[in-house]
Amino acid sequence: MKILIKNIKELIQTEHTIRLKVSGKDMAKLNTEKNAFLFIDDGIIADFGKMEEIKASLKVQSAGDLFEIDASGKMVFPSFCDSHTHLVYPESREIEYIDKIKGLSYEEIAKRGGGILNSARKMQDISEEELFDAAMGRLNEIMAYGTGAVEIKSGYGLTTESELKMLRVIKRLKEKSPLTIVSTFLGAHAIPSEFKSKQEDYVDLIINEMIPQVAAEELADYIDVFCDRGFFTVDDTDRILNAGMKYGLRPKIHANELDFSGGIQVGIKYNALSVDHLEFTGKEEIEALLGSDTMPTVLPGAAFFLNMKYAPAREMIDAGLPIAMASDFNPGSSPSGNMQLILSMASILYRLTPEEGINATTINTAFAMGLSEELGSIAIGKKANVFISSRMPGYAFMPYYYGTNKVEQVILNGKLQ
Ligand code: NIG
Ligand code: FE
Repeated sequence: MKILIKNIKELIQTEHTIRLKVSGKDMAKLNTEKNAFLFIDDGIIADFGKMEEIKASLKVQSAGDLFEIDASGKMVFPSFCDSHTHLVYPESREIEYIDKIKGLSYEEIAKRGGGILNSARKMQDISEEELFDAAMGRLNEIMAYGTGAVEIKSGYGLTTESELKMLRVIKRLKEKSPLTIVSTFLGAHAIPSEFKSKQEDYVDLIINEMIPQVAAEELADYIDVFCDRGFFTVDDTDRILNAGMKYGLRPKIHANELDFSGGIQVGIKYNALSVDHLEFTGKEEIEALLGSDTMPTVLPGAAFFLNMKYAPAREMIDAGLPIAMASDFNPGSSPSGNMQLILSMASILYRLTPEEGINATTINTAFAMGLSEELGSIAIGKKANVFISSRMPGYAFMPYYYGTNKVEQVILNGKLQ
């Protein structure tokens, strides 16, 4: 299928040379093309530029098998990349949400057997079919809000069988959904109650049983550990990441959400693709990140929903670091996968400019999924995952006019959705 989008008021995040990520001061730069066209051929971005430069050949083609869209007054963006979600889960957990409103902390809820363990109990009984259908519904929802690629973690299984069940569901979602999906094995999400006083035994189970089986069935692209106070220690994380490395699983880990946990440093030690959350990030952590190729990823939805402190994203960018921002879509700490809202939070809560916010939710999140060579910007040869916005005065309207859906038409893999 060939698609020509014409009269685009502004084409956002254009690139002539592909960059894998954007850091520091460069995050404030966003290339755009006003009064532009975008030509998509066979799933790929084949050409773009100013309207007056549409090639003669393209004009001739337009008489034939070409689907034309007039985007007057509208913007075209690369689809959002959401590099951190837990969107395969059995049930919502609004009961805990009410406990939270009444004053209980995330950790207190977890200690009472709520939180992740609550989802893990329900995971044992739910069928793969039900899990798949519920997750597909969520994928369709985030697609309508402009997400074109998403990472999905396991971690509500916490037994070998249930972790494999979750990962098999993610594998089927990869095959059936038009979204680009990467999967992450997160057996180390919480310590199951039966391992309460023998945490090391659970770590052994992850290393000796889960990782080899996940690898044998090729069910995961990455490996994750929740390295934080009350969850997995730096030593546990070190052992698990070391075991994962032997199977070629690169880490993307949960770190420093609840304390200065050492998670950032152990992630960097294993060349993590990303370290995520980062509410507790100080000078030492920033120094360590500066010397690494690891993408610092902030999850505004979780900090907002849990009413926690915000990661120092502004300071991190000012220190020269890249920042990615993802939704953390999950039933406990961030029950929304709306990346437009994350973009608004980037500026309202973290003081990122619209340009920095767009870089943080497209190219840098693509990097945090290992996909920035094929996604995250408008560049010739990249996968045609884009959306056409509603009419808007300028791209700053996207984060500014928060809370409504400003995506009008989604195109994924070069196909209208
Ligand atoms: O990223 N921090 C750890 N895990 C999830 C929460 C999952 C849950 O509560 O179900 C998070 O916020
Ligand atoms: Fe998470």
